[in-house]
Amino acid sequence: MFQNNDDLEKEDVLRNKIDMERLPSHIAIITDGNGRWAKKKFLPRAAGHKAGVERVKEVVKAVGDLGIGHLTFYTFSTENWNRPQDEIDSLMKLLVKYLDKELNTLHENDVKITVLGDLTGLPSLPKEKVIKAIEKTKNNNTLNLNIALNYGGRNEIIRATKKIIEDVEENRISIDDIDEETFKNYLYTGKQPDPDLLIRTSGELRISNFLLYQIAYTEFSFPNIYWPDFSKKYLYKTIIDYQNRNRRFGGI
Ligand code: IPE
Ligand code: IPE
Ligand code: MG
Repeated sequence: MFQNNDDLEKEDVLRNKIDMERLPSHIAIITDGNGRWAKKKFLPRAAGHKAGVERVKEVVKAVGDLGIGHLTFYTFSTENWNRPQDEIDSLMKLLVKYLDKELNTLHENDVKITVLGDLTGLPSLPKEKVIKAIEKTKNNNTLNLNIALNYGGRNEIIRATKKIIEDVEENRISIDDIDEETFKNYLYTGKQPDPDLLIRTSGELRISNFLLYQIAYTEFSFPNIYWPDFSKKYLYKTIIDYQNRNRRFGGI
């Protein structure tokens, strides 16, 4: 796939090549490579995360402008607690800062923020900010912005299973009611459509416990650049590539 900026056409040229009738309904992104981007520039890892947030803002705006209804970012995984405490702290600080600075703009643009993941496990300040953001934007519906925070796909499936068992035991549903559609509703993504397109930057070719149930028929894209380099034109290029694929869903 594409390697760097020079390989690409101009942003507006790419933008015009997107078929607006066949946009993905849901794009999910594993924003990977912040640390390596910083290292390459002899900067601390935190500088990579900071640059990464700027790309998040750019991509949220571009996806919103295209009229795509669902966008998911993998912001912090259940495994990311294994990082050094100072890196965890700087990631949490950036989240707080992002919400402090962007919440009003997001709200004005009718963006609904949803968190995928176990909020109870977050430190108190980010938890408070995230709850406030969810509450403030809960009636918006132009763009559903999902932030996967303290998120793990296996954990999500186990949590859903436990909730289903509870509902069966309390006679709220019967075992026969459980089908793929019902099961989906117990996941953090609820009634949202499955991702049509999953992008992982940085060149790693793995899923790292992201949206395991939801990606059954998702198209994958693994651009070989670090997340802080993923400008709008990479997004456009990825969408164009996606539109050139033939999704068969098991048919012919
Ligand atoms: C992704 O970048 C950001 C988060 C995990 C929050 P990394 O921090 O994983 O960057 P690399 O993979 O070490 O380059
Ligand atoms: C995945 O990236 C998680 C996020 C981007 C938040 P990681 O950098 O944590 O994944 P691995 O460790 O390379 O699989
Ligand atoms: Mg990484």
